[in-house]
Amino acid sequence: MTDFSKRLITWQKLHGRHDLPWQNTSDPYAIWVSEIMLQQTQVTAVVGYYQKFMQRFPDIAALANATQDEVLQHWSGLGYYSRARNLHNAAQTIMDEHHGEFPTDFVTIQTLSGIGRSTAAAIASFAFNQVQTILDGNVKRVLARHFAIEGWPSTPKIEKQLWTLAESLLPKTEMVAYTQGLMDLGATLCTRSKPQCARCPLADSCMALTQGRVQQLPTPKPRKTTPERNTTMLILRQGDSILLEKRPPSGIWGGLWSFPETDDTQNLVHLAKQRFGVDVETEAPLAKLSHAFTHFKLHINPQPLMVVSKHTQLNESANVWLNIEDAMCAAIPTPVRKILLSLLPNQAPSLF
Ligand code: ADE
Repeated sequence: MTDFSKRLITWQKLHGRHDLPWQNTSDPYAIWVSEIMLQQTQVTAVVGYYQKFMQRFPDIAALANATQDEVLQHWSGLGYYSRARNLHNAAQTIMDEHHGEFPTDFVTIQTLSGIGRSTAAAIASFAFNQVQTILDGNVKRVLARHFAIEGWPSTPKIEKQLWTLAESLLPKTEMVAYTQGLMDLGATLCTRSKPQCARCPLADSCMALTQGRVQQLPTPKPRKTTPERNTTMLILRQGDSILLEKRPPSGIWGGLWSFPETDDTQNLVHLAKQRFGVDVETEAPLAKLSHAFTHFKLHINPQPLMVVSKHTQLNESANVWLNIEDAMCAAIPTPVRKILLSLLPNQAPSLF
């Protein structure tokens, strides 16, 4: 065993995390769900969602048999909703093509929607004790520092180098403690800012530390200015009800329920008549809000429109009138939840 893996395993057993809800199991389904939720999302944000998700969808069959809408509902607020759509899709593939059993073969695991090489390695090591390396953002940072590797770790050339390096460090046994140790070190000590090198089990051999370059490594992503977009959300209100529209299946917030949007801020009365068959009166706009996605920033102008004439029958699968409490329980993205909350100034937020 390399000194690196030996020290990491010993440290994980003593100082790592042992009581997270997806630990102390070898159920590949439970591990898979956790790994997908933990992509781009912090442990503290995931725990509550994970417990509710596992209660509602305790196994692959339960997830495969659910509607996409219900799966998205349990993901509402977590973001990156393609993760939920892929999870649902992969559960159906496992039922149809793998007799309902999560595949154990490392290459086969990666054929499932939403499972790349690192996630497959996390599942294979935690569930099946296979010797496969993870390489997520945290691990890239640990390796880039420990071996003083320059260049943004997600450029193809550096990434390839990191995969080879990560594989060379693997132990032959104790893969659960080793994989968890990599994750725990990156999340608790070898953090992006203010790393706690004094407590690090690998400090002795850390090249960035010896060279005084911990702050400089890993090399940051070359920054381009993020594009910004504006949209007007139409808050159509009729009595206690508001109108939500189902978004197209792919793209941002794919399959989620949201307020209808427009770029055209001029003719909202005409637009409401055309699109929804209602006569409306424009009200004072609500406070603007912004939402950051990975690739752009969205500035939202919420525009309330009071419906004054009874609406005609809508296409029920694409549009619904809901009272605000019911809308809060639907599969909605975070900014919609914020707007709904602002319509209910005296209510506490509730997830379900
Ligand atoms: N991040 C990704 N996978 C994780 C895990 N199993 N435990 C803690 N954080 C994680």
